[in-house]
Amino acid sequence: MTTTFPSSRTTSSSRTWLDAVQADLRQIENKMLAVSRMGQANLDAGVATIITSGGKRIRPAITTLGGRLFSAAWPDVESVAASIELLHTATLVHDDLIDGADSRRGVPTLHSRLPLGITVLTGDFLFAQAAHLAAAANNVRVVSLFAETLVQICKGEILQAQTRFTVPSLAVYEERIYGKTAALFEAAAAAAALLGDADEVQIKAMARYGRELGLAFQVVDDALDFLSTAQKLGKPVGSDMRQGHFNLPVMYYVQDGCIDEAELKRRVEAEEDVEGLLHDIRERGFVQRTLESAARYVENAVTALLDAPSGEATEYLIQLAYQSLERKA
Ligand code: IPE
Ligand code: IPE
Ligand code: MG
Ligand code: MG
Repeated sequence: MTTTFPSSRTTSSSRTWLDAVQADLRQIENKMLAVSRMGQANLDAGVATIITSGGKRIRPAITTLGGRLFSAAWPDVESVAASIELLHTATLVHDDLIDGADSRRGVPTLHSRLPLGITVLTGDFLFAQAAHLAAAANNVRVVSLFAETLVQICKGEILQAQTRFTVPSLAVYEERIYGKTAALFEAAAAAAALLGDADEVQIKAMARYGRELGLAFQVVDDALDFLSTAQKLGKPVGSDMRQGHFNLPVMYYVQDGCIDEAELKRRVEAEEDVEGLLHDIRERGFVQRTLESAARYVENAVTALLDAPSGEATEYLIQLAYQSLERKA
């Protein structure tokens, strides 16, 4: 078994964070594939397609870089990073079913090709395999973090479902995106510290880095739903609004008095020129304002790293955080 990080065998300056972890990510992907087979040809092919169809691998990259920063053993980092990405994959299988999305990473979603029951159970199977991988590092705090993260994801998704067609307060919006997305980023970063030689202050710093970056990541995702195309994103666009998920751009739109909340709800529910609403929100600069707000979360993430050791991996974590603001997919 390899005990050193595969990517650390090649070094050169001016590398990006992605160059720095690419070889590690390949091993992590192989680990995910190995545990995702159920021995049923059509299901296995469907799951393998999702796993290999080009996720950005941001979460396992964070765990890998964090693992290096705190000198964690590679086999533990490999298992836990694979666990986090598999947990992410499982949430996407369920999320796409709930959202009725037809594509993900440019390929048809599982529920669009398989019966709903089988899709739900396949997601559950991936959750369970992710738990096995989390346990493989033999660290009780990591297992407990895994369980707590899943609790938060469920709560976030339920809160989102329950607050459809209402304009949330900033506190409720943050609670929603923390649960949906930031809790897993928090776990990705904190688990690395737990596997390594970090002290409690450093564990907290990594957790905060992950949490703030995760909030930024979801805010950018909510902006991209207004800005991008389905082809670039590999998933549907404009769908949050149509489904009554009123995110930050819509919250600003209502707050600035451009539309009354009751009128917004009526128009979206009646499907009356939603395209016009999307256009108006973009034109009036509310998506831009949303991206500015994401930048503030990224600043918080980078500031949190002041309490972490400085090193090459820290620089890559900072680079990754800023780059998440530039992403187009
Ligand atoms: C999609 O996550 C779900 C959100 C939390 C917005 P990613 O944008 O990381 O998806 P992949 O893994 O790169 O496809
Ligand atoms: C995803 O939120 C959060 C998950 C827990 C999967 P979204 O519904 O915004 O993610 P996309 O836009 O479908 O990737
Ligand atoms: Mg979705
Ligand atoms: Mg989205």
